[in-house]
Amino acid sequence: MTKGTNFKRRTVVKAIAASSLLPLLGSNLIGCSDNNNNGQSPPPEVPAIAAEFLHGVASGDPLSDRVIIWTRVTPESEGQVIVAWEIALDEQFSSIVNSGEGTTDASVDYTVKVDVDGLDANTSYYYRFTVGERTSATAKTKTAPTGATAEAAFAVVSCANYPAGFFNVYRELANQEFDAVLHLGDYLYEYGQGGYATERAEEFDRVPQPSHEMLTLEDYRTRYAQYRGDEDLQAAHAAHPFILVWDDHEVANDSWREGADNHDPETEGEFSERKAAAIQAWYEWLPVRPPSNTLEIIYRQLPYGDLVNLLMLDTRLIGRDEQNTYPDFVNGGSIDVDATRMAINDSTRALLGSEQMAWLKGQLTDSSARWQVLGQQVLMARLHLPSSIMEALDPSIAGEDFVAEGTAALLAALNAKNTPPEERTPEQQAILDSAIPYNLDAWDGYNFEREELLNHAMQVGSKVVTLAGDTHNAWASQLSTEAGDIVGVEFAASSVTSPGLEVALGPDLALGLAPLVIPLIDDLRYTNFINRGYLKVHFTMEVVTASWTYVSNIDSTSYTLIAEEFKEISVDAEDLLIS
Ligand SMILES: [Fe+2]
Repeated sequence: MTKGTNFKRRTVVKAIAASSLLPLLGSNLIGCSDNNNNGQSPPPEVPAIAAEFLHGVASGDPLSDRVIIWTRVTPESEGQVIVAWEIALDEQFSSIVNSGEGTTDASVDYTVKVDVDGLDANTSYYYRFTVGERTSATAKTKTAPTGATAEAAFAVVSCANYPAGFFNVYRELANQEFDAVLHLGDYLYEYGQGGYATERAEEFDRVPQPSHEMLTLEDYRTRYAQYRGDEDLQAAHAAHPFILVWDDHEVANDSWREGADNHDPETEGEFSERKAAAIQAWYEWLPVRPPSNTLEIIYRQLPYGDLVNLLMLDTRLIGRDEQNTYPDFVNGGSIDVDATRMAINDSTRALLGSEQMAWLKGQLTDSSARWQVLGQQVLMARLHLPSSIMEALDPSIAGEDFVAEGTAALLAALNAKNTPPEERTPEQQAILDSAIPYNLDAWDGYNFEREELLNHAMQVGSKVVTLAGDTHNAWASQLSTEAGDIVGVEFAASSVTSPGLEVALGPDLALGLAPLVIPLIDDLRYTNFINRGYLKVHFTMEVVTASWTYVSNIDSTSYTLIAEEFKEISVDAEDLLIS
């Protein structure tokens, strides 16, 4: 790309919309630079269709020399819309470094992406789009550093449920400085009105659109359009580049390779068709760089100099075998611990799948960056609880008074844990020896792969920091192999709006539970079960620091930060221990 291209001198480039060029891949990518047309003729004259910018602008997947910029136009009539873009070093666009023009149409839901290259590393840029006389909002983005890098900071978010409340957490992101926002999925939810977390949607004027569960391409597009009409989400996108992966709700609850808990082929058709529709809308509406091979592969590397090797993963769709659930292991009213352990150690059950695992292990082997940062969906840390507690938590076997049963089981387990091993009764030791995963949908349910990954990381000397979302609660844990070797740490974000354990258990119980489970679970160091917020991770060569910020409420756009819940944890690169 030639720098210093003047907007008035821009060359009209041919839109890469032609399916013969990139069938099904990145079809909303329009030409990047005036060097990109490779002698192709300009696009045919198209009538000028006026359009508005109702869904904001966004950027994403920053590398040291390029970044994706995105917008969506709402045309006043059907047809092709000519969209121009420009990117500058300053907010006034007096120092434009590149610009271009292309077309978009209904085939990509009038979304537009440009992979702007030729940029300087570790540099902030401003960008905007124009259709005719109308210009979009101006937004800011930033390229990644290269070479020696002293520090990097990321916001980490997940689980934004529009009908559940207002996106105050996104608003807060817009007011802070980060290199990028890592969005770990559940960017939207599939449910219709009356479904999960819609109880106050009418009161909030946030009833899902469409009002039914999304299933078709049109449904997914409509839901993205609703979310992207949110001013707080638009502000967050306009302030930072986003690096996104999907979790399950971008398709349907508890998705895996060939199905989902919330997908019934009998009434909802082939899962593969639903998945394809969801994936198409995801690429259309989000500032993600389309891969060169298959759209289903979203695992990718984004280096931040010699400091952070950011590896975004897919633990949902590309390789996951179907989740086990505790009803699978209930035998005579209690959980069969041995059967549970056999299942989670089954070497044939995959979470990443063999190709992604091979890629990831290769990345860890080859990288000389200080920190190996895995941006992914589900908790990797080992979070095991005695089976008596799990039985109280499992609706399929819990009694009506599950709170009392669970509390009694928890206290008995704590008592056992606090008793020196040589003084424990056989019954107390049996309680502790019965520990099984809290969540079989997370890495805990796929222990064979986790051991493979963590042992490889240990062998090649990686300092691993995993980032997770999915649970709607905040966590910090050591990452250890079964042999007890510390390989790294895990920091997990709370949610933007999706309800956490305070809804399932009630706020008092959720509040009281957190300090009780930490001493019970060897690798667990911090939890927050009741607040909505975001996680910030800051890296230097010596230390990674995680800090959690929480908003006071999501039932109004008026909010404050909860100062007493702010939490900061630092981990030294030498010993990787959470102190
Ligand atoms: Fe979620």
